[in-house]
Amino acid sequence: MPPQHHTFPEGFLWGSASSSHQVEGDNFYNDWWISEQKKKVPFSSYKATDHYNRFEEDFDIAQKLHQNAHRFSIEWSRIEPEEGRWNENEIRHYRRVLESIRARGMKTFVTLHHFTNPMWFVDKGGWANIKAPYYFAEYAKIVSQRLGDLIDFLVIFNEPMVYISQGFVRGVWPPFRKNNYFLSYKVFINLVKAHRMAYNEIHFDSPHIPIGVAQNVIDLQPRHKKNIIDIGLTKITDYLWNWSFLNFIKSECDFVGVNYYFHHHVHYRRSVENLKQPHEHSDLGWGIHPEGLLEVVQAVWTRYKKPIYITENGIADASDDKRASFIIDHLHYLHDAITQGAKVKGYFYWALTDNFEWERGFEPRFGLVEIDYKTLKRVSRPSSKVYSEICANNSLD
Ligand code: BGC
Repeated sequence: MPPQHHTFPEGFLWGSASSSHQVEGDNFYNDWWISEQKKKVPFSSYKATDHYNRFEEDFDIAQKLHQNAHRFSIEWSRIEPEEGRWNENEIRHYRRVLESIRARGMKTFVTLHHFTNPMWFVDKGGWANIKAPYYFAEYAKIVSQRLGDLIDFLVIFNEPMVYISQGFVRGVWPPFRKNNYFLSYKVFINLVKAHRMAYNEIHFDSPHIPIGVAQNVIDLQPRHKKNIIDIGLTKITDYLWNWSFLNFIKSECDFVGVNYYFHHHVHYRRSVENLKQPHEHSDLGWGIHPEGLLEVVQAVWTRYKKPIYITENGIADASDDKRASFIIDHLHYLHDAITQGAKVKGYFYWALTDNFEWERGFEPRFGLVEIDYKTLKRVSRPSSKVYSEICANNSLD
């Protein structure tokens, strides 16, 4: 067979991703930090990877790995620790972060909300408060006015459906509400409103910034392909989880960010289940199913015909045995999606370094770069070299 040579489109973005609370450390004013202190979640983020102080070092690594873009999130509670009080030092901090990404020849891909909220906002009822979208739009306006000149791409919400499901249905993340479908609906509507308002605020001052959402899209299949209940339930789950939010905000969206981790079977008795053998699993027991990336990208392209960025795709793999082939296999199917017509313009591996994996603490190791949490030393894993070659060549050989 002749060697396969998969070149990606010119200008393709190759990067990795992170989020403020998972790497920065000492986020004193957000709901996660407070829940950690009150032991409402099993682990505390403490200094996390101390990225807040070591961002230059981390971006040096990303640059050495030939990445040309970096996705990270701004911590709302840092720049607005109290309602209407804007912390100039923190705004300057994020300006330095953005400048240092750009100084290394990388594009800045900024997320406004990655699961955490300022405590003052939570005390006012958080996302269930009818005024929540207004508070959030003010924050978006300040980011646009003060940081917009340094932002190349912007994601308003990271995984709105994950936020709702973990916080208001499963009840394992702040604000720890269980099976509260009424509240979930209210929060959903407020997130939609907030997205629309933030989109308009940002485009008012910074019309040059393409804006999108990072949507967790699951490749869903009926457990039994001929069982009409399984088929019907798959359709409902698919609509609610994958498309409902996007459908509401599609006119206020310049691109779609896809976070791809899961391939699930829908079964009428067990609702949703992770695909079992013969597929391989990550350290978290998540099935590895790269073909699903082709499915979800095609589905997004067919529905919205907007540029697509893979804003997250990654594996918890402490031994680093599976990560290189995980990346290669997913990129193989991503390339197929592009060949078949989808306008995919970038890929961000989750994550650049190991980090605080929410209620699971520091144990899951998603990083291209290993963190020694005692010394905070960074060591690039072998798989990072494989990804680095792909980034450098803009192709998969
Ligand atoms: C989230 C990240 C998280 C990753 C791995 C994504 O759904 O955006 O914050 O660390 O999954 O679980």
